Amino acid sequence: MAGQIPQRFIDDLLARVDVVEVVGERVKLKKAGRNHSGLCPFHQEKSPSFTVSADKQFYHCFGCGAHGNALRFLMEYDKLRFPEAVEQLASRLGMEVPREGADDPRAQAREKKRKEGVNLLEMSASYFRERLKMPEGQVAREYLEQRGVSDEIRELFGIGYAPAQWEALKRHLGGQGVDESVQIEYGLLVHHEDSGRSYDRFRDRVVFPIRDIRGRTLGFGGRVMGDAKPKYLNSPETPVFHKGRELYGLYEARQASPKLERLLIVEGYMDVVALAQYGIHNAVATLGTATTADHLRRLFRLVSEVVFCFDGDKAGRQAAARALETVLPEMIDGRQARFLFLPEGEDPDSLVRREGASAFEDRVVCASPLSEFLFEHAAQGRDLAQLESRERYASQVLSAIEKMPQGVLKSLMLTELSRRTGVEQSRFEALLAPVVAEEPELMPFDDAMEPAVEEGQLPQRRRKSSAALGLMGRTLQLLVHEPRLVERLPESLEWCDGQGDDARLCRDVIELLRAGGYSSAQVLLMHFHGSEDGERLAALARKELLIPGPARAAELDGLVSYFQRACKTPSRQQEIDTLLAKQQSGERLSSEERSRLMSLLAARD
Ligand code: GTP
Ligand code: MN
Repeated sequence: MAGQIPQRFIDDLLARVDVVEVVGERVKLKKAGRNHSGLCPFHQEKSPSFTVSADKQFYHCFGCGAHGNALRFLMEYDKLRFPEAVEQLASRLGMEVPREGADDPRAQAREKKRKEGVNLLEMSASYFRERLKMPEGQVAREYLEQRGVSDEIRELFGIGYAPAQWEALKRHLGGQGVDESVQIEYGLLVHHEDSGRSYDRFRDRVVFPIRDIRGRTLGFGGRVMGDAKPKYLNSPETPVFHKGRELYGLYEARQASPKLERLLIVEGYMDVVALAQYGIHNAVATLGTATTADHLRRLFRLVSEVVFCFDGDKAGRQAAARALETVLPEMIDGRQARFLFLPEGEDPDSLVRREGASAFEDRVVCASPLSEFLFEHAAQGRDLAQLESRERYASQVLSAIEKMPQGVLKSLMLTELSRRTGVEQSRFEALLAPVVAEEPELMPFDDAMEPAVEEGQLPQRRRKSSAALGLMGRTLQLLVHEPRLVERLPESLEWCDGQGDDARLCRDVIELLRAGGYSSAQVLLMHFHGSEDGERLAALARKELLIPGPARAAELDGLVSYFQRACKTPSRQQEIDTLLAKQQSGERLSSEERSRLMSLLAARD
């Protein structure tokens, strides 16, 4: 990979680009005073609360808190990674993005090679597309037609045909001056060590280009038209193509709709193509491998929900169990994974053709949520009336839950496990690996300061960690996990008027929640993203709140009334300071004040 982009280049870029222009190309903006405003692209709204400031060069939404500069906007709106957003801004200004260490000849050679490879693959893709239109492509055209693939969908996916010859592509590329060794490296030719000869990998096959998210061809999948084996042939691993990372159809899905909410993960090329043929443009396929964590991370950057589709047979169930294992660690709050089982003997391709798009969509909507599948899967083949199998059931579910990141979903799963087994939740919590405290001790634990929370509501184990946070930290944590609790707070913010970062952040958070009227932790985190406050909040969001819903409100009430009392009764030290200051300024203390000061000082250890 290329080196780091130097910070000074990024600064320079941001100084030259105009955020109003960048946003304006994607969102309809109206000038309103010094700023521009429009409907926020990051949440649903009817009246505009999204503003872009040319002076400050950033955008802000008063509705959902979305906020940032031109780069951040591209990252969020176009779902780009940071370097991609930089590339995009730079290219509109005609600037070349420098990379640290770019003078290094090895890095230069690597970069040159990468470009060479990408061009080569692009040339091959268009060669295959051309062949499909020629007389020699007739069998392939008929095959596609017979499988119900229209010309339009064929074009959309760039499907082509590899001729039934040993050296068709090789001669074509050779004619363009591409070295044989490069063709071998990118998997287009197969090289035979023994004879020293090389020939086309894809012959007499329908060819599907596999593209990256920006539409660049990385490799190919080719299907035979008869019964020959193997049915599908994929490009091997090459400098640009990695099976465990790429997903077929992702580029096309994004082209069809830039604002995807959900993606379906299916097994085959033809499933993706057939679904698109029926207007279902949000399917992607893994390339003959199980879904990897890498795949999921890519998908979850684009959408908050993935739906796995499996055959209804035993192999499908097994594949689903593997997918479950892979997805559990990725289930941070706000993400959703669901499992769709198709009737036995069907794949999405056959099913959508038989039932039509809307019946298929109905199945997707009704797919089992992860939690449901997890509990069902663990219960399978077990008689839960029997104590021992209930124990094994609980252990299996618990070890799955253990893989999940901290969050509300994880807590809810534990609650559900407790409900299903009749074992107290705290028992399960004790069995889970202890949560490592992410924060240093901010405040010594002092029982006298424990807010009024009914005994027995907080498991003992949790008391300590909430104390380690500090009480204001705990207050913030409750608000981050359940922003809607803001409604119960008193109008006046006097109680959190104190010094300290947490108190200040608490005020900011409350004001923001009140102004926006929203209730999602995600928007809160996004608003503060990239700042120290953002890191603090994200750390609090990661820390699990292991208390049930109703107790949370009670705990927050307890904390607030504690702070209210504390701000009305000045602390001992404050009182001492005030009295001492009065005395030192030459003012006489009354006898009452003097004895108060004496007793305060005496009480100090
Ligand atoms: P059609 O028969 O064209 O409908 O394909 P399918 O997608 O229904 O086939 P299947 O369920 O057999 O395979 C699903 C996916 O597994 C394919 O899309 C390929 O990615 C992969 N696959 C299937 N057969 C082979 C094979 O023989 N070799 C390799 N490398 N991959 C295969
Ligand atoms: Mn099929």
